[in-house]
Amino acid sequence: MAARPMRSFRRREGAARVSIGPADSGDDIDRIMKVMAGAFAPEYGEAWNRRQISDALLLAGTRYCLIGADGSLDPDPTEQVAGFALLRGLFDEEELLLFAVLPQYRKKGLGAALLAQVIASARTRGIVRLFLEMRRNNPAGKLYSGFGFRTIGVRPGYYRTASGERLDALSQELTISDG
Ligand SMILES: CC(C)(COP(=O)(O)OP(=O)(O)OC[C@H]1O[C@@H](n2cnc3c(N)ncnc32)[C@H](O)[C@@H]1OP(=O)(O)O)[C@@H](O)C(=O)NCCC(=O)NCCS
Repeated sequence: MAARPMRSFRRREGAARVSIGPADSGDDIDRIMKVMAGAFAPEYGEAWNRRQISDALLLAGTRYCLIGADGSLDPDPTEQVAGFALLRGLFDEEELLLFAVLPQYRKKGLGAALLAQVIASARTRGIVRLFLEMRRNNPAGKLYSGFGFRTIGVRPGYYRTASGERLDALSQELTISDG
């Protein structure tokens, strides 16, 4: 397929930086990749490479949210980014593809603040359902269930870890109300 010229669709919703469609900033991809490199345990093979991120951001309906180390939802280019979320939307549904906070910034509420922003910005955009997939027993499950995500499906042994262990995949859904 022929390459199309990149166009920026960045827009701000509330205080958060939310980008939709082609990423207009290689700097933000750099910041996402820094979190990616430190946040995902190699054992699970969950981290994406730069090409996967930049390709994903070429698709309409793909967006990301960043959170700064100080909890800012609109970290400026000089600020340390502590975490990010990557989402793909289709009509009135979105999937949370990646969600991570660097280890040194965990347990301070940044993950919860980022997820709250993801949900609020989805609601603003008319999204009625958010989906995600996680391996069973990922501690993140406690965070997700606290926000109302519930398990709607199990794929037994779907993930295979680097050491060969098989782990179930849990499909989770959050219904987003108008309120
Ligand atoms: C999941 C993740 C983003 C949470 O980030 P965080 O900034 O630590 O989250 P918070 O500080 O907002 O934690 C919110 C709540 O979630 C729960 N929680 C989050 N991480 C947890 C962990 N590692 N172990 C146990 N509970 C955890 C706790 O209930 C916590 O509430 P508390 O403050 O009362 O303890 C982070 O642990 C991470 O990046 N993990 C690796 C990547 C990953 O697995 N992403 C999810 C893929 S599905």
